[in-house]
Formats: sequence, C-alpha cells, structure tokens
Amino acid sequence: MSEPADPQTFRPTGPLRGSLRAPGDKSIGHRALICAAMAVGESRISGLDVSGDIAATARALAAMGAVLKRHGADWSVHGVGVGGLLQPAGVIDMGNSGTGARLLIGLAASHTIEAVFTGDASLRRRPMDRIIEPLGRIGADFTASPGGRLPLTVRGAMPAMPIGYRLPLPSAQVKSAILCAALNTPGTTRIVEPEPSRDHSERMLACFGAEIVVGEEKGERVIELTGEADLTAQDIAIPGDPSSAAFPLVAALIVQGSDVTIENVCINPTRTGLFDVLLEMGADITYENTRDLDGEAVADIRARHSSLNAVDVPPEIAPRMIDEYPILFVAASIAEGRTEARALGELRYKESDRLEAMAIALEALGIAVERFDDRLAITGSGGNPLGGPEAVPLDAAGDHRIAMSLAIAGLASRGGVTIDDMRPVATSYPAFAADLAALGPEA
Ligand code: S3P
Repeated sequence: MSEPADPQTFRPTGPLRGSLRAPGDKSIGHRALICAAMAVGESRISGLDVSGDIAATARALAAMGAVLKRHGADWSVHGVGVGGLLQPAGVIDMGNSGTGARLLIGLAASHTIEAVFTGDASLRRRPMDRIIEPLGRIGADFTASPGGRLPLTVRGAMPAMPIGYRLPLPSAQVKSAILCAALNTPGTTRIVEPEPSRDHSERMLACFGAEIVVGEEKGERVIELTGEADLTAQDIAIPGDPSSAAFPLVAALIVQGSDVTIENVCINPTRTGLFDVLLEMGADITYENTRDLDGEAVADIRARHSSLNAVDVPPEIAPRMIDEYPILFVAASIAEGRTEARALGELRYKESDRLEAMAIALEALGIAVERFDDRLAITGSGGNPLGGPEAVPLDAAGDHRIAMSLAIAGLASRGGVTIDDMRPVATSYPAFAADLAALGPEA
C-alpha cells in the first residue's frame, strides 16, 4: 500500500433500509479463475468484482501463461490446459491473499517450473508449512523464508506423486492446494477431511469436468481426484460473498428500525455458520428466493433489527464461520449476556491476529472481554450504545475484516469510532463504505 493511510469515522446512523448485492464470493472467484486458467478453451466468469485478492490471483495466472480479460465484473479466461503452466518471468506477488498464494503454490508444485511467491507484510507473516509439508510429499521442492514463510521458491515435481493425506487441521486452503497439485499428478490423490471445510474447490473442479469423487468413510469426508485429465472451459456465474454480506447484515440487526435485503448471497452450508449462530441469538434473518447458481446454493437474505441474546458458540462450527468471528464479536457486544466462542486458535494466523485485534478494540469501546489462548468471552451491552460521547480511535491491524467489523460497531456506538486505516478493505470489499452509505437514512 503506497498511498497514505485512510482514517475514517463511522457514526451512529438512522435506520438502514433497502437492498444491495454483495461482491462476488472471493473463495469461489479464486477457484473459478484457477479452473478456467487450467482448462482447454475460453471460459466466461460473471459476477466477479475486482478486489485486491482477486486481482492478485488473476495477475499470477497471467504470469504463468493464462490470458485473462476483464469487462467490469465479467471475465474471459483462455486457459493453458492441465500441465501447461509456463515458467513465470519474475517474482509472483500475491499481495494480501492467503488463499491465492496457497492454491497457486499448489498448482505450481506439479508443473516443471520454478516460481518465487511473495506477498505483503501480513501475508509474509502467515505460515506456509501447512502446504509445504503435503506438497513436499508429492515431490515438490521448497526453499522458504525462516518459519516456513514467504517469500518462498517452489520447484515443481516431475512427475508428481499421488498422495493420501489426512488433513491435520480443518483448512480449505490446504485441501485446495493439494487438489490444485493433484490436477497434474498421475493417478489418484486422496484427501481425508476429519472436519468438513468449505467445499468450493470440489464443486468448481466438478463443474469444469475434473475426475473428482467426494464420499464419506467412518464419518469423515474423503475426496479423490484423478489427475492428468483435461478440464473443459465453462461459463460460470459467481454468487455474492456471505463473508462480505455479513457486514451490512449485522449492521441491519444492530441498528434500530433497519430492514435490509442482501441479494444473491451464497448459502453453501459450509459458509453459513454465522447466520446459524445469529438465528440462535434471536436475529430476524430470512432466506428468500433460494435457488441454485452453477452448483452453489444462493438466496436473498433479509435482516431486520433484532434484540440479540448471548449464545455459547460451539467449537465445531468454527470451520463454517472462520472469517466471520470478528463481526460475530460485534453482534455479541450489543447482545444481552455473555457470549463465549471456543476453538479460535486459527484466528491468530489470519490477515492479523484477529483474536487480539478484536479484543483490544472492543475493550476500547468499553466492552468486558475475557481473553484466553483460543477462546474469547464477551459480555454484551444489552442493546446500549458502545463507547463514549466522542469518537473512539480504533486500530484495524491492517486487516480488511477487522476494519469492516469495527466500522459496523461504530453504527451502534454513542459518539462513533475512528478507524486508523480503511485501505485494507479493498482486499475483499472495495464498495463497502458506498454500499453502507446507500442503505443510510440520507441515501
Ligand atoms: C479460504 C479458507 C479459509 C478462510 C479464507 C478463505 C478459502 O482459510 O479463512 O479466508 O477460500 O479456501 P483456512 O483454509 O486457512 O481455514
């Protein structure tokens, strides 16, 4: 980020009303671009707005030979075919995108190329050993920075070896990195998932004609992909991102008199943990016009102001709402009673240490927060406004989802909040402030 920091103040507002379309789902978008880049022929992808993360994946695929063109939220991608990635000329900079970095390192790991991947300061702090270990087993060779971090060099295996791998942690990124590598690996790669994580890779690969079979054994998901099969170009529509929809949705729940509909949101059950927890807290949320969009379930989600009650958030829901804990903590801060969430260790390895960043910010807003290694308990205000009479300065820790969560907290505050820097929001939801303003009373 070369421009100066962008501090912004978010103040309490009158009722939020109206409808909006959340940006195209980032997880599905990365996968659509990757499958299209590996397919034979020209694919068309619609509904994929450019965020920082999506732009990074598109640039990286272009550096390895795919031809991508964009007209607004519509893309055309001319693929290289499985096995056809070219040696990139320079270092591949994945910016802030952990998903893009891990999936593309997986893709490179089974091609005869040597590629150097790096990212911004946040991404360079994040662990890559979780993909280096399984990708090493398929025969790829890595030189990583200390602690198994970026920048790292991957030298792809030739030929790659199909592996059987039981995921040691629930991670769609690790699963998908292995699936990306499996595309150009002879034989059948087998992944066992003890706790199901988001399954967009499996769905997207099936859409593009990959030889993929998903089953269950002793209560665990088993995914088998047979490699070296062609992918065929497709026309794919990307649904709205539930992880972005979460912000205006929680805003509607906590601002008196609000009634907001967010259209065309992906409601794949591996992504709806937040909505389920909010319903349990007493939120008035309804799914309308539920339908299928190219293999993913979508709905228009209507949210109305609600009195929320505290809840015990079960640990097993973590993989289904992993990116939504920061905004859940905001909802918990307004709820009546003590909300406790457990099994949150992974939050410390996201774009920032999200457990720490949210605890610090909510304490600054006068909320009682109990912090533990991998747990957080919040005693809510029972509907009373947060903070004091003046705008409270808050640190977004350079993290898009912390910045947006705290901005929403500002709408339910007494005197507002001033976020130190809103630039990171461009990573996933560049139109966030504009969308929120359009729902506001003066719009
Ligand atoms: C993602 C998986 C999750 C999530 C991330 C997107 C994906 O990460 O936090 O924002 O698209 O596969 P983990 O795989 O580390 O849980």
